[in-house]
Amino acid sequence: MVGEYNENGVLEIIGVGVAPSNGLRRGVVVNIESTLGSVAAAVEAAELMSGREVKDVYCGAAGASVEGINSRGVVAVTGRGREITREDVDRVIEAARAVVIPMDREVLHVIPQSFIVDDQKGIRNPLDMIGVRLEAEVHIITGSVTTAQNLVKCVNRAGFKVNRLMLQSLAAARAVLSSDEKELGCLLVDLGGGTTDVLVYSDGAPYFSSVIPVGGSQVTNDLSIMLSVPMDAAERLKRESASAWLESVEPGETVVVPGVGGRAPAEVPRRRLCSIVQPRMEEIFGMVRERVEKMGHWKHIKGGVVLTGGGALVQGAAELAQDMFRMPVRLGNPITLGGLVEEYRSPLYATAVGLVLMGAEESMPPEARGQGSTDRQAKGKGKGAEGGDTLGRIADWIRKGFF
Ligand SMILES: Nc1ncnc2c1ncn2[C@@H]1O[C@H](COP(=O)(O)OP(=O)(O)OP(=O)(O)O)[C@@H](O)[C@H]1O
Ligand SMILES: [Mg+2]
Repeated sequence: MVGEYNENGVLEIIGVGVAPSNGLRRGVVVNIESTLGSVAAAVEAAELMSGREVKDVYCGAAGASVEGINSRGVVAVTGRGREITREDVDRVIEAARAVVIPMDREVLHVIPQSFIVDDQKGIRNPLDMIGVRLEAEVHIITGSVTTAQNLVKCVNRAGFKVNRLMLQSLAAARAVLSSDEKELGCLLVDLGGGTTDVLVYSDGAPYFSSVIPVGGSQVTNDLSIMLSVPMDAAERLKRESASAWLESVEPGETVVVPGVGGRAPAEVPRRRLCSIVQPRMEEIFGMVRERVEKMGHWKHIKGGVVLTGGGALVQGAAELAQDMFRMPVRLGNPITLGGLVEEYRSPLYATAVGLVLMGAEESMPPEARGQGSTDRQAKGKGKGAEGGDTLGRIADWIRKGFF
């Protein structure tokens, strides 16, 4: 997805490109050549639509190795008059970040949840407050170094520079969740092809993130095996005829399943498709619930569940989720940014829209905008997949109320 600030400083989506995803399994690169081919094809299509040449990208990270943990840190306020400065905030986040992370993992995000100044809890922005002791609670997302390196390598070899890897579900959340939902506490379920990404927000910040290595392609695979049809036919059946909610399918409804290798096409009850799709979707939602409950975050979900990603488009997915989660479920369409709205207003594009939003905020903060969309000198700011700049950015986010 290609985004651009228009002459009024408003972010627009000006190009969308889609290509079949090859070379990845469960969110992890298993074939470099195929993956880079998919990346190149998708970006080329987006370049063509936008009429722009893409040089650098923000790339979503997934895979079961991505893990979120909560941590806290504390520092003494050193500023003049005990007024909390940006340096204090940077230091306390650095302290919170100082947890033991295995050598084979790298930090993708450090997201402040809240601050404590002396005994005052639940502070969103401690800047300029007066205190002696500053404490920060943060959510740290880490991923496997080698998984990330392989992904970056594919994108590099496809001809683009990766500015930064970002957790896919965080990007999706940016695009689909309202601030009310984040405040109240909600569960985001991003049902992708290879993985189902889960994120729990509470009091405006993420508290739990997890990646489940099962997604929509498993549903297609089940259909392919059970109906003895090739994957592309199974994919079509899933999108056009299947349902994940048996109650919405009348007993008499039938679907034509194409024949293979000279076999004649067969008419099968639509309920049969449902009996294949529903158990797998139940399994996925069951795993989501189990993980969130196990970590004690179920009670924080007061604002309901938001279902997004391509898998959310399976008919009856929201009904099934509502039944299994026992709370309101809505489909998460990305917010409207202007530009080619019709092209991207679908749960399929939630992550990509979120990456554009987060990348734009990072490469060109609001105060640097307004000098015309071609002014990209602010870009230099957010360089490096992860590094010393992160803390500066976090302080920026706090100031802007990014989360
Ligand atoms: N109209 C549709 N109806 C049902 N399923 C759909 C539809 N469109 C796409 N899908 C399914 O959505 C899945 C892909 O979703 P999405 O594009 O969100 O995944 P992804 O972000 O590329 O993958 P991942 O999140 O695992 O890295 C595929 O399994 C695809 O079959
Ligand atoms: Mg996805």
